[in-house]
Amino acid sequence: MPQTQTYKLPRSGVKREALRKKGQFWTPDWTADFMAAYVLQEKPARLLDPALGEGVFFRAAKRYARSHDFDLALFGRDIDPEVLGQARKSGLDDNDLRNVEMRDFVLDPPSELFPAIIANPPYIRHHRLSPEQKDYLSEFARKTTGRHIDGRAGLHVYFLIRALQTLALEGRLAYIVSADICEGVFAHALWQWICSQYRLDAVIAFASEATPFPDVDTNALVFLIRNARPDKEFDWVKCLDRDSKELTAVVLGRHQKNYNSIQVHRRLLSEALATGLSRPPSDDAKPQCTLGDFASVMRGIVTGNNDFFFMTSARAKELGIPDTLLVKAVGRMRDIQGCFSTGRQGETNPTTERQRVAI
Ligand SMILES: C[S@@+](CC[C@H](N)C(=O)[O-])C[C@H]1O[C@@H](n2cnc3c(N)ncnc32)[C@H](O)[C@@H]1O
Repeated sequence: MPQTQTYKLPRSGVKREALRKKGQFWTPDWTADFMAAYVLQEKPARLLDPALGEGVFFRAAKRYARSHDFDLALFGRDIDPEVLGQARKSGLDDNDLRNVEMRDFVLDPPSELFPAIIANPPYIRHHRLSPEQKDYLSEFARKTTGRHIDGRAGLHVYFLIRALQTLALEGRLAYIVSADICEGVFAHALWQWICSQYRLDAVIAFASEATPFPDVDTNALVFLIRNARPDKEFDWVKCLDRDSKELTAVVLGRHQKNYNSIQVHRRLLSEALATGLSRPPSDDAKPQCTLGDFASVMRGIVTGNNDFFFMTSARAKELGIPDTLLVKAVGRMRDIQGCFSTGRQGETNPTTERQRVAI
């Protein structure tokens, strides 16, 4: 049984800001294990992790190759030399790291293709990219996909395009990324391109209790994509428990009748693209109305430091902040329990009680 490591992310301050700039959020072992199983199932000779970090995917790949008795050469990239020390501390040696280069994967990609790529890309939103970077990335996306990818795409979107371009024929990619990759204004063009050129084998979503990144305010998804002729259907899987066993079986094509820790939906690609790949299946692919028909919808207050400004009513009372200086707010989608939130003044449900912003 592989040992599972947990990482405590700095919640605020200079260290958190440094993480944001470099996009450094480490994947847990249990997630890396089923991702490695997917890309390595045909025992390829080489694997690329284009955003190495402290090397969780190298360790998972070594475990898989050892238990399935084949030789695997590991190739990696990162732009932060400090990660090499962390990778050594995490159990990798000089031999494991001999093909790791300190080079930018998007701007300066490898010249060869790989049969297996596994990645947790830097999560860097578009407003943190310079105008020059944006221009370059937008031109790269246009040349590669033949489509216009809206400039509000973050670096993780361009990383995905580069990873797909670096995949050998019949090669497999496992990519863990924020769900906003299916939801932003660029998403339609991006997924139309991917699903017309590649085979989407599976999308893994996570229940909030099973999220791989409990300290990060984002929903993660794992995409399993093959450089093969597109198919009409794929598996959409919801992971309910932090356990890779059933997930590994499904990504290896070993479907069961019943599952304990996951839900598996075989879906039509056309339905899923219309509904949104981050969402569960819907019969009603063309909804008659949207939220915007009933209410004005806009992004709320950007506090700049939720740990400071975002608090419970009890905490506000403790600090002596009067109600008149507080605004009810939903900080994270996962704080909404169920399908409804009326947001009425004075409402006392546990959800809204937790969410107030001092202004
Ligand atoms: C989200 S972390 C993931 C690390 C590791 N693979 C994991 O899953 O735990 C992304 C890594 O990509 C690196 N990175 C950032 N920009 C990069 C780029 N343009 N090319 C290659 N690596 C980059 C960061 O330094 C960071 O170590």
